[in-house]
Amino acid sequence: MVVISIVSSPRKGGFGDRIARRIEEGAESVGKEVVRFDLNDMCDIRQCQNCEACKSNGGICVIKDDIAPVIDAIRDAEGMILTTSIQFNEMNGLFKMVHDRLYCFLDMNATTIMPKGKKLATVVTASADQGSADRVSAALEKVMHEHFFCEPVGRMAYCTWMMPKDSPIDDSVMDEAYEIGRRF
Ligand SMILES: Cc1cc2nc3c(=O)[nH]c(=O)nc-3n(C[C@H](O)[C@H](O)[C@H](O)COP(=O)(O)O)c2cc1C
Repeated sequence: MVVISIVSSPRKGGFGDRIARRIEEGAESVGKEVVRFDLNDMCDIRQCQNCEACKSNGGICVIKDDIAPVIDAIRDAEGMILTTSIQFNEMNGLFKMVHDRLYCFLDMNATTIMPKGKKLATVVTASADQGSADRVSAALEKVMHEHFFCEPVGRMAYCTWMMPKDSPIDDSVMDEAYEIGRRF
């Protein structure tokens, strides 16, 4: 079983990319295999169509786009690292597309059919709005715990204070990321 890392920032080498990578390294240091999905590299993506097909076919999303392998990987994973930037006070659009597709893991009674107990780390970055980063990361963790019974191992809400994307990240932040990774 593997740990899935879903990164939605379009900025390779940006803050979310590097913090997620450090969590991945922590997970690898305790023997976990990490599979990374960079959502911005995907071209063919659609949002949940609310077609309800998944409610009568055992939880299989019938949309066969580039998000489909991400959904399949989540089903079999032992843990997830979820990374989004803040855009206009909320999770970014790419991440929201994937997040909504987790609807296939709820049955017609809104009970999860995702195997329970997957470990979860969340990373949310913002340039100035620490409040939104905190709020969105807490809300994301809450949904993943309450709807999908994931077990949080760490939550990072990182404000870049408008620094250019390749600015260094404090060692303390990267150390925290690594330690979170080691909890997988
Ligand atoms: C369309 C758009 C909207 C944004 N809205 C916000 C915002 O509301 N608050 C904020 O603090 N940063 C905002 N940002 C800045 C990004 O959150 C910030 O650059 C990003 O989190 C840095 O992370 P990354 O290096 O992982 O991409 C916005 C950026 C874009 C492109």
